[in-house]
Amino acid sequence: CGIVGYIGHQQAQEILVNGLKKLEYRGYDSAGVAIDVGDCIVVTKSVGRLKNLESKVSENKLIGCRGVGHTRWATHGRPSDENSHPHFDCTGKIAVVHNGIIENYAELRAELKALGHEFKSETDTEVIAHLMEELFNGDILETFRLALSRLEGSYATAVISEYEKDKIIVARKDSPLVIGLGINENFIASDIPAILEYTRNAYILDDHEIAVLTADHVQIYDESGIPIVKEVFEVKWDAVAAEKGGYDHFMLKEIDEQPKALRDTLRGRIDESQRKVRLDEVKLTAKELQDIQKIHIVACGTAYHAGLVGKYAIEKLVRIPVEVEVASEFRYRDPIINDKTLVLVISQSGETADTLAALRLGKSSGARVAAITNVVGSSVAREANDVIYTWAGPEIAVASTKAYTTQLLAIYLLAVFMAEKRNTISVQDRVEILQALQMIPEQAAQLVAAKDRAKEVAKGVVDWNSAFFIGRGMDYTVALEGALKLKEISYIHAEAYAAGELKHGTIALIEDGIPVISLLTQPDVYEKTMSNVIEVKARDAKIIAVVNEGDMKAADVADEMITIPKTHPLLTPILSVIPLQLLAYYASILRGNDVDKPRNLAKSVTVE
Ligand code: G6P
Repeated sequence: CGIVGYIGHQQAQEILVNGLKKLEYRGYDSAGVAIDVGDCIVVTKSVGRLKNLESKVSENKLIGCRGVGHTRWATHGRPSDENSHPHFDCTGKIAVVHNGIIENYAELRAELKALGHEFKSETDTEVIAHLMEELFNGDILETFRLALSRLEGSYATAVISEYEKDKIIVARKDSPLVIGLGINENFIASDIPAILEYTRNAYILDDHEIAVLTADHVQIYDESGIPIVKEVFEVKWDAVAAEKGGYDHFMLKEIDEQPKALRDTLRGRIDESQRKVRLDEVKLTAKELQDIQKIHIVACGTAYHAGLVGKYAIEKLVRIPVEVEVASEFRYRDPIINDKTLVLVISQSGETADTLAALRLGKSSGARVAAITNVVGSSVAREANDVIYTWAGPEIAVASTKAYTTQLLAIYLLAVFMAEKRNTISVQDRVEILQALQMIPEQAAQLVAAKDRAKEVAKGVVDWNSAFFIGRGMDYTVALEGALKLKEISYIHAEAYAAGELKHGTIALIEDGIPVISLLTQPDVYEKTMSNVIEVKARDAKIIAVVNEGDMKAADVADEMITIPKTHPLLTPILSVIPLQLLAYYASILRGNDVDKPRNLAKSVTVE
């Protein structure tokens, strides 16, 4: 979910809706705003996309300079008007928006019901409003603090009330919240793009902090109510970078931005001799690296797929055992972690709840924690010991593209960096990889320029009910990402398999015309994978082969061929994924789907 708030001299409603537009990537099941119109607070909300709310508010423009807003990704309670935020207490004097999950909401709800409170929604959030009503003692900040002390779970929450009409109060625990600082006006938002149109100066709230905003002042408190002084964070990036810039969809824009994103992520990180990686932000010394016996890579979704590439690259180059795991599993299974462990978390947003929990588990168990993230100042960035930024710029489309390829680049740099420090790589191998890495942005540019080929192949995709992606080694990791891209935006059922595993069950599903996207970029297992491709071909599958330039053999077997420029075998995932991103994009368009906002999903998942 995404939350926004405004207090100042301008009309709040328009500013809130504008901000929500920038946060819709965080959820789009419903949206709502609460505006202080002078003698009361009026809530307008609507299930479905933000445009439903927009048409409601344009019919009924509310005059008021203070308000909060919300865009929802449903957790507790189905998407409906009633379950949309903001939520009121019984008196309608306290309005609340919230991102996160109140884990003890059922107990609180029962307790409040027994005290006579009537609930209008099925949400966990509504308990905050009623709890505040119950605890109200004449001081809204103190009441808020008391209410927060009863909550278990995660929240970024904002409250306006009729009791102190010059204030918005907010708090954060495990869900992101920024406060934009204007002149005689202040803003709140779950993420920076929502405030960028108005200000570049912000406070990034930390867990357990509470803030009181008036039009001309922001005061931050710790959880016991003691005022604290925070540093102002200056946003350096451009608002235009978060806009569509003439494209129909963010996803295509972001696919196209990959050469630049890769170039930016590479910049300054390979020294002039092309022999050394420079990662000044990684403070791990050679001695500390020598002591590391195990690496856990932990992430979710596409970032997890990047982690799988990390396992292959790090084990090959650094010879330290690597386990890769989705964060939601890792955090609850009591993994073996100690001071000889390095936990590497990967997260585009730096705010994914499970990934953040995994990071904290790593730290509290004595591990060194490194992070690869795209968002400066994100929770992951602030809490990790070492942070490697990907410089992909804001990624808005729910389906991740440029974040993934830049994460891969960061992983390769880290792998070579560690290998060099542990003396597990020869100078010649290092030079080969680093030279190949420097060619990647240009090669990615060739691939994004070859859109027509992917478009052509996608024409056949529209009628598919199901698809398989196969490959071995590095190709298998890309198969997983290719399948995820296809299913999440085209809604075609897609499965990825390690090519050699197909015969142990899944091959039973292969029948006439079933598409098998076969990745064949790894020289050491090329023949093995080719045998598997021939096996499915023999069962009348339709073969779409992704191969290295100059591969003459695949043409005999494949119905469709997609070629990628030649690179070092370790690096092919950065390139081979690009045609698969494009394939998914065009398949989604041809099927008439909402590419940037696929059903049931959200970009930044700040709940478990
Ligand atoms: C969501 C997004 C994915 C993303 C995953 C992890 O599921 O839809 O695209 O890969 O979260 O997000 P993170 O910000 O931690 O990389």
